[in-house]
Amino acid sequence: MKIVMLGAPGAGKGTQAKMIAAKYEIPHISTGDIFRSNIKNGTELGRKAKEYMDQGLLVPDELTVDLVIDRLAQDDCKKGYILDGFPRTIPQAEALDGALAKLSDKLDYAVNVDVPDENIVNRMSGRRACLKCGATYHVVFNPSSKGDVCEVCGDKLVLRDDDKPETVQKRLGVYHDQTQPLIDYYAKQGILKTVDGTQSMDDVFAAITGILEA
Ligand code: AP5
Ligand code: MG
Ligand code: ZN
Repeated sequence: MKIVMLGAPGAGKGTQAKMIAAKYEIPHISTGDIFRSNIKNGTELGRKAKEYMDQGLLVPDELTVDLVIDRLAQDDCKKGYILDGFPRTIPQAEALDGALAKLSDKLDYAVNVDVPDENIVNRMSGRRACLKCGATYHVVFNPSSKGDVCEVCGDKLVLRDDDKPETVQKRLGVYHDQTQPLIDYYAKQGILKTVDGTQSMDDVFAAITGILEA
């Protein structure tokens, strides 16, 4: 099963992608998590990506596309994967389709987690992230049972640098300009599925698994 998650920043793509990856035993590939782990480890890619991410801008396609295409060539992707945060521009989607076509392959679903902008800023200010393993929590909706450390790996949880309200507004603008057109792009391919992302996490998950198992 090859799935792309679409949705605004904070819509719950990462939250749902992790649950789907665990249930169907496929890798969860988040470009945001890959960039954040590079920043944490002080790599050259991390240094470049951080300049854009901290401003709420997209990292250039040149730094992003090959990274993902290489990742998809690894063995654990043979039985499928869930992409979270990629593609987020039309050129990225075309590059992905092109790489898949070379393997006579294609995506199965593009799942759009739909949440209006008004709900987003509240979610982001309460989010706590583990920069080591990519786990995500929310101080109200999904707190870590271990307080301010990650349940999975024990690293300290932080507020992401790009979750300040001004930067969230900027990211929402970038989403509407550059990423939302992908909804039409995948609708035209006949693989778009939209779920109401304002429901509880478990209800959103049930809606998604209902689609994947229909
Ligand atoms: P990325 O890490 O992908 O961030 P994003 O798209 O802005 O999305 P988020 O991770 O902020 O939100 P999410 O939808 O995963 O929500 P979550 O599950 O955490 O990208 C960050 C940056 O990296 C980009 O701005 C860009 O600079 C760069 N980048 C990444 N990929 C790129 C690419 N392909 N090309 C170019 N640049 C790229 O949920 C949010 C919060 O809400 C959490 O606290 C969660 O616990 C809570 N929550 C989730 N679901 C619910 C629910 N149903 N009810 C209540 N609370 C909920
Ligand atoms: Mg995420
Ligand atoms: Zn962790």
